[in-house]
Amino acid sequence: MALAKPAQGSASGRATVVLTAVVAALGGLLFGFDTSVISGAMLFLRTDFHLSDVQLEFAVGIALAGALLGSAVAGYCTDRWGRRWMLLVTALGFGLFSVLSGLAVGLVSFSVARFFVGACIGVASLAVPLYISEMSPARIRGALVSLNQLAITVGIGVAYFVDYAFAASESWRWMFASAVLPALVLLIGMIFLPESPRWLARKGFRDQALENFRRLGRGDEAEAELAEVEGALQEEQEGFGILLQPGFRLAVFVGIGLAIFQQITGINTIIYYAPTILRMAGFPSAKAAILAAAIIGVANVLITVVSIVLVDRLGRRFLLLLSTAGMGVALALMGVAFYQKAGSMVVFYEVIAYIISFGIGLGPVMWLLISEIYPTKIRGKAMSLATLTVWGTNWVVTATFLSLIRAAGLAATFWIYAFLCVVAFIFCWVFVPETKGRTLEAIEHHWRHFGEKR
Ligand code: BGC
Repeated sequence: MALAKPAQGSASGRATVVLTAVVAALGGLLFGFDTSVISGAMLFLRTDFHLSDVQLEFAVGIALAGALLGSAVAGYCTDRWGRRWMLLVTALGFGLFSVLSGLAVGLVSFSVARFFVGACIGVASLAVPLYISEMSPARIRGALVSLNQLAITVGIGVAYFVDYAFAASESWRWMFASAVLPALVLLIGMIFLPESPRWLARKGFRDQALENFRRLGRGDEAEAELAEVEGALQEEQEGFGILLQPGFRLAVFVGIGLAIFQQITGINTIIYYAPTILRMAGFPSAKAAILAAAIIGVANVLITVVSIVLVDRLGRRFLLLLSTAGMGVALALMGVAFYQKAGSMVVFYEVIAYIISFGIGLGPVMWLLISEIYPTKIRGKAMSLATLTVWGTNWVVTATFLSLIRAAGLAATFWIYAFLCVVAFIFCWVFVPETKGRTLEAIEHHWRHFGEKR
């Protein structure tokens, strides 16, 4: 008796799709973990390697330089060699260079290893949402791609926990090396997971594309979905030129704009500096400030779960607007609290309100939208532009934050970020399309049609 094909929505088909997204999202966990783990390790590094301030700053910042490089090349590589293959290589890189960071004998070997960990972070930040987006059914794509953001927030939390656990014994080497565990699980998982059917179709491997759509639970609908993908591919021209057409030009603008706004509204000043900010607000001890920062981390994880539940129901636009509005209000109130010296708990509640506002929308939805709004043939390379922008802006914001406070004062600094949230709100209102429930090909059609109307 022939085995029945899993129909769309069948339990086994759904399970395969969800499992695939969960495993791929481990790349997001490594992204979050490896950007945060350094915070608890740096004091020990400084002592062991006798680092000056400048050397320490270099050792901390080098991963960000790697991420810039990784995100710049990731698009080309994922378009050329495939999404799955790149995730495999990235998992291998994460494992290898995490161990090498832990084994470093001095500033040079440490920085080289961390540079390559950073490159893996850059690749993962692009390849994970791209891969999940392309293999997901339209109906639940928002939730599945947002598992990536959930994993990032969990990774940030796990890093704090690992740092805390190894701090007593000053074992900074284990802090870095422990990333080998999720890297191994990702590596083994990616060996068994299917390549993106859309990438296979784009490369002309029709039978395999069809088979993978079926493996991913599409059942009888696999043929129709593949036909839609092939139809769209036929209309697409090769190369970067497509991104200069009027409709797609706007898609590039939207992606880069979202990337800038996700960072320029200050998220990583909170993620990287929460204990410092809370101390400045008057938290009684470093210990209390670190505990409060941990609570902020947990809030970030929990709200991402809420966003996952809502994103395919309420849509991307609604969550983005709610998010940027909430972030703006929270930041403005933080400015007021610092201005009036209102007390540390007030600032703490406002930071929580800010994180909740970020986590419901701009956090997950930026990564989701940049994986949805570009045509298949150029998706990887176009995503590179957006991810490169994320890492570049992240660097500018975190490198200038403390100087900005020194120059403008705490209150004005947060008011500046609040003002940028207002600009972000207007940007989302005017330019961001709703992509909820539409196939990637229907979204592509929207841009093409938009372009024709001009
Ligand atoms: C951002 C990171 C940020 C993280 C915090 C991500 O979406 O890209 O820069 O650190 O969210 O949750």
